[in-house]
Amino acid sequence: MKCKVCKADAVVSLPSHNTAFCKEHFTKFYLKLVSEGIRKRSLLERDDKVLVALSGGKDSLGLMYALSELGYDVTGLHIDLGIFESSQKARAVVEDFCRDKGYPLKVVELEKEGVPMPLIKKHIRRPICSICGKFKRHYFNKVALEDGYTALATGHNLDDEVARLFANTLRWDQAYLSDQGPVLPAENGFAKKVKPLFRVSEFESANFSFLMGIPYHHLPCPYSGGASFTGHKLLWRDLELRSPGSKRAFYKGFLDRGQPAFAAIAQDEKSNEVKPCIECGCPTSAVTCNVCRLKEQLRQSIEESGK
Ligand code: AMP
Ligand code: FES
Ligand code: ZN
Ligand code: ZN
Repeated sequence: MKCKVCKADAVVSLPSHNTAFCKEHFTKFYLKLVSEGIRKRSLLERDDKVLVALSGGKDSLGLMYALSELGYDVTGLHIDLGIFESSQKARAVVEDFCRDKGYPLKVVELEKEGVPMPLIKKHIRRPICSICGKFKRHYFNKVALEDGYTALATGHNLDDEVARLFANTLRWDQAYLSDQGPVLPAENGFAKKVKPLFRVSEFESANFSFLMGIPYHHLPCPYSGGASFTGHKLLWRDLELRSPGSKRAFYKGFLDRGQPAFAAIAQDEKSNEVKPCIECGCPTSAVTCNVCRLKEQLRQSIEESGK
């Protein structure tokens, strides 16, 4: 197969776009997908100070590289979850990558915060990955606001977004459907959140990081015994094979027509007042935020087990 632009041998074939590219033109194509997405959906301004959440996987490292190439002011943020070797490896990948490229990096260590994931898993009998997600989002927001960043970017790609949208649609979850999208504006004590890879498929993201020589890690969370999204992603892979471009069309249609309709309904029903948590100051609709309540549960459980 030949590159659509220069007719050299293609290294990536993209049936969903009905095209193929050599390394140089695939890189240009990828950066254009990202920059056009940012512009069309107003994700970032030129002067935004962007904190990029780096897990060490292909998506977030590729995103950091792409945003920097596109001229944005970027700083990495890694949350070290304290899950033994797995977290050590992820952190080392992120640290090496940032050192190599000269990107500034911040690291939050959950061990130092008194809430490493293994301790939470031992004491709190609820799905650990969902609690972990709450902690990550809490620290993303806290660091962004306290350190003066104007946007927090994550590496969620098109496949992640489609799987999430599909799950929300199966439940017709009005609240989630009204909020889902590549940009959540800053409001009520929350920093602006953006997902600049929302037009980039998992396959395109993996190819980009591979071709750019970015050494990412691909170990899944050791505690996730197969999240439900994985099943949905498999369904979508089949659909995409039968009908290339389905994922893109499903998500674009939602952003153009579905999300605005759900947002209009939610606007009428929004009654939850958001206030600062009395413990940590982070926004919450209760008296104390999720994370402070979890910390308190952990404290009580440790105390009781020591009796
Ligand atoms: P995941 O939910 O693991 O697919 O991750 C989605 C996105 O969240 C990644 O692309 C990163 O931007 C961010 N993320 C996940 N885990 C971490 C972490 N430990 N530290 C910083 N960012 C993370
Ligand atoms: Fe963090 Fe599973 S414990 S994602
Ligand atoms: Zn080419
Ligand atoms: Zn709190």
